[in-house]
Amino acid sequence: VSDPGAQVPDEREVELRDGTRVRLRPVTPADKPRFYANFAHATEEDLRNRFFEALPALPDALVSRLARYDPAREIALVAEPAPGTPGVKPLDAYGVARLSLDPGRTDTAELALIVRHDWQRRGIGRILTATLLETAVRRGVRRIWALVLRSNRPMVTLLRSFGFTIAVEEDDPMLVRGTWTAGDRGPFASGRPLG
Ligand SMILES: CC(C)(COP(=O)(O)OP(=O)(O)OC[C@H]1O[C@@H](n2cnc3c(N)ncnc32)[C@H](O)[C@@H]1OP(=O)(O)O)[C@@H](O)C(=O)NCCC(=O)NCCS
Repeated sequence: VSDPGAQVPDEREVELRDGTRVRLRPVTPADKPRFYANFAHATEEDLRNRFFEALPALPDALVSRLARYDPAREIALVAEPAPGTPGVKPLDAYGVARLSLDPGRTDTAELALIVRHDWQRRGIGRILTATLLETAVRRGVRRIWALVLRSNRPMVTLLRSFGFTIAVEEDDPMLVRGTWTAGDRGPFASGRPLG
């Protein structure tokens, strides 16, 4: 990527529909303790939906990989309480999302995200997804895909609302693949503003 400034999305603050202020910023290696601290808030189903297995504990190798990534190949965003939000603990995070370029490609990337269980259904998944799609398009990514358990209605609904097409994965009928192509319907097919 020639423009290093384009690698990392700007830090920004957005407001949820209930008025909560959320800060979005890139994940850094210093976020490792944040991953462990928020893991306890995930349900078995959340973990199965994100990692396709119900992790009893967060493996150190996985945390290292999630926190230390190549910014030229991945964008990882954390959504956290905006500074000054009352009642939050220091390591609280609302959710994390990442977009990883497919090996050997610069125009196709995988999307994955998880929102902390007690913060789901407030618009955080939508904001994270919209921000990643917008950033990806700025960086020349044309196609974005996500593998999702077929039973994961929240994620399938979220993807559909952004204009992803959903198809059953040929070699695993438990999975569906959402695919979004830039230009088809645009990143904001849902018509909702970024905030
Ligand atoms: C999928 C997930 C990321 C959605 O995050 P979220 O912050 O709850 O989503 P939002 O509040 O932004 O909702 C966005 C849209 O998704 C859909 N959605 C979210 N939760 C839903 C639910 N329980 N049932 C049906 N649709 C749902 C709706 O279309 C919703 O829009 P609306 O609230 O305007 O109707 C969250 O449920 C999650 O972390 N799940 C576990 C991990 C996972 O499944 N990751 C995806 C695999 S890559």
